[in-house]
Amino acid sequence: MNILTVVGARPNFMKAAPIIAAINQHNQRVLSESPDQHQGQEEAIQHILVHTGQHYDDLMSNAFFRDLDLPKPQVYLGVGSGSHAVQTAEIMTKFEQVLLANRPAVVVLVGDVNSTLACALVTTKISFDSAGSRPLIAHVEAGLRSFDRAMPEEINRILTDQVSDLLFVTEDSALHNLRNEGVARDKIHFVGNTMIDSLLACKERAESSAIMDKLRLRMQGGNNGAGTAIRPYALLTLHRPSNVDDLGSFRNIVEGLEELASSHPIVFPAHPRTRRRLEEFGMRLRVALDGIDVYPSDGSAAAPLGGIILTDPLGYLDFLCLMKHAMLVVTDSGGIQEESTCLGIPCVTVRNSTERPVTVEKGTNLIAGTDKERIKDAVRRHLARKSVPQPLPEKWDGRAASRIIATLIHAHVHPKRSLFEESLLA
Ligand code: UD1
Repeated sequence: MNILTVVGARPNFMKAAPIIAAINQHNQRVLSESPDQHQGQEEAIQHILVHTGQHYDDLMSNAFFRDLDLPKPQVYLGVGSGSHAVQTAEIMTKFEQVLLANRPAVVVLVGDVNSTLACALVTTKISFDSAGSRPLIAHVEAGLRSFDRAMPEEINRILTDQVSDLLFVTEDSALHNLRNEGVARDKIHFVGNTMIDSLLACKERAESSAIMDKLRLRMQGGNNGAGTAIRPYALLTLHRPSNVDDLGSFRNIVEGLEELASSHPIVFPAHPRTRRRLEEFGMRLRVALDGIDVYPSDGSAAAPLGGIILTDPLGYLDFLCLMKHAMLVVTDSGGIQEESTCLGIPCVTVRNSTERPVTVEKGTNLIAGTDKERIKDAVRRHLARKSVPQPLPEKWDGRAASRIIATLIHAHVHPKRSLFEESLLA
């Protein structure tokens, strides 16, 4: 079987890496267990990785390939930035040629970025022969809905799901959303969360990151004067155009965090868009690290007692290390709401909705919107809690990618059998 996986933007890489690892494991197993080499080759999966180049900066892309041990993509489309229409059209035109040249049996698409939708549209309309044969479309992280159609990702999710043949969901709400939209039950597979597969696989390795020392977040004399302790800090990410492209919203969020920043450092790795807006708006943050401005140093080796520490975008392991040790995360990202739930770290989401309701149900995530008083209130509520529960959502156990590969093999070997029956038998 020939599988082609597409990645394009930062949040795709950690979702695709476990799928590629599961394919490699499958291949090693069939090659070592098959009685003859020919049969092993037959059962092995040929895999092609395509990178659209939607994200292209070293810090937004290559750093993740290194941290996640992703193979070099066989195909790089190099589309870069542009308006939604330009970016989507560019990916579509180039991806069509890739499909025609490789004729995969399955196209695996992850998440909800423009690359996901562009490749779904091409795959559903391609025709390899006069019978109209085309690859199966497998959408990983299907069914999530914020019910806010002003979000470009919501449109990407709805349209990708409508044309997908196999829909792999991460939580119960996604299954219900898809059923409500008329997707046949036997196309939907509740497999868990491949982003959480990556997190669980890298959690220990992230401890080797030097980021805590680089940001001077360790202080001497914790633990009764001996050794080092971690200075309590919060972690902030913002990149949604609705939050950072508008001065009023951006300022509201920062003001909502001022109280927190007066007592604790807030580490803020800024997306290129966010960094540009900070500069354009002339927003004066208190900045430390190798940053553009240096936080007024009192000569001590410790991080400042408060303020916002602006950094470049961070690699996967550095960011995971910071998330693990943070007392609180504030974000407008979708994935970070899930990762903080898995780590049991309190999260304040500065958006009015979430497409990942399981993170709220499990008690780690508060949806605060962008009103500064509501943000302050959510921060206070989290900090006043004695402990945050650490329940893991169902099937967030590090095995989502293996379930996906097993399902794809079934779909390929038994194309006529009901996948719903298969999943009941599994
Ligand atoms: C994209 C995704 C979003 C995801 C986010 C994660 C869509 C619609 N949006 O948003 O869902 O949460 O990625 O980061 O697909 N830029 C660089 N270097 C890069 C990439 C982008 O400087 O490597 C700048 C460009 O100026 C570009 C802007 O960032 O115009 C936005 O990039 P784009 O890929 O269009 O969307 P994101 O905001 O990153």
